[in-house]
Amino acid sequence: MKRVCIVGASGKLGRYMVQHALDRGYEVVGVCRAKSTGKLDAFMDRMTVVPGATDDREVIARATAGCDGVLTVLVPWGVHGYATGTAQAVLDLAPPAARLVFSCGWHISRDGQDRYSPWFRATVAVFGRVARWLRLADIDDQVDACRRIFASGRRWTVVRGSDLEEGPGQGLPVWARHVGDPLLGSNRTRRVDFALFMVAALEDDSLVGEAPAIVGRETPSARAARAAAVND
Ligand SMILES: NC(=O)c1ccc[n+]([C@@H]2O[C@H](COP(=O)([O-])OP(=O)(O)OC[C@H]3O[C@@H](n4cnc5c(N)ncnc54)[C@H](OP(=O)(O)O)[C@@H]3O)[C@@H](O)[C@H]2O)c1
Repeated sequence: MKRVCIVGASGKLGRYMVQHALDRGYEVVGVCRAKSTGKLDAFMDRMTVVPGATDDREVIARATAGCDGVLTVLVPWGVHGYATGTAQAVLDLAPPAARLVFSCGWHISRDGQDRYSPWFRATVAVFGRVARWLRLADIDDQVDACRRIFASGRRWTVVRGSDLEEGPGQGLPVWARHVGDPLLGSNRTRRVDFALFMVAALEDDSLVGEAPAIVGRETPSARAARAAAVND
């Protein structure tokens, strides 16, 4: 892995991913809205920024050219298919051999085998309805984006984040294939560690074609799973 493109580089997750990618010695190209380039000022001398909408196909073609990996932040903002357009552009235009890693939340289910708590279902339903009514966001857009990724023949990974918090890194999060696994019970990950998982996935071929649901490695549920494994 030499050259990596980060689509949505100016957001909180994006900036952590830029830092991790630079720490690994990768060449970094970032895509972000023109009005947000200032958020990347701290990295300007160490990365290339391509300003533009992340669903702009010309922008994505230019930014991903020559990249071995593409990290994409999928967000459901707006009600005009922004996430779907972003995912489709990356799927269509990134170099054929590139590793593609996308971010989303637990609410995305690849195979319908996830078991959600009533509270989680209610929160997603209420947020979804209110956000759509206010025309702020469309969760179905992120769902559609992921459906296209799952159906693609690309070397993809869709990383499903739990609730996020700020704070110093605790190391690589742990993961399960399905929400409902007791390992994930704490539903909490440091955002900086989510970013670490995304960047590490670029070089982890065991994650190709997987949609890992992640949780912080020092959360009570992850610790309990580790202790149970030791006692087995
Ligand atoms: N927040 C959570 O608790 C949570 C939980 C689970 C999973 N996730 C996942 O984690 C990832 C990052 O989420 P985050 O909450 O931490 O956000 P974030 O990293 O701050 O990223 C937000 C992104 O959305 C862009 N954006 C904001 N408003 C926009 C608009 N109106 N139109 C187009 N783009 C817009 C931002 O671009 P600019 O910099 O240009 O504004 C930025 O790239 C997402 O994939 C999300 O699904 C988040």
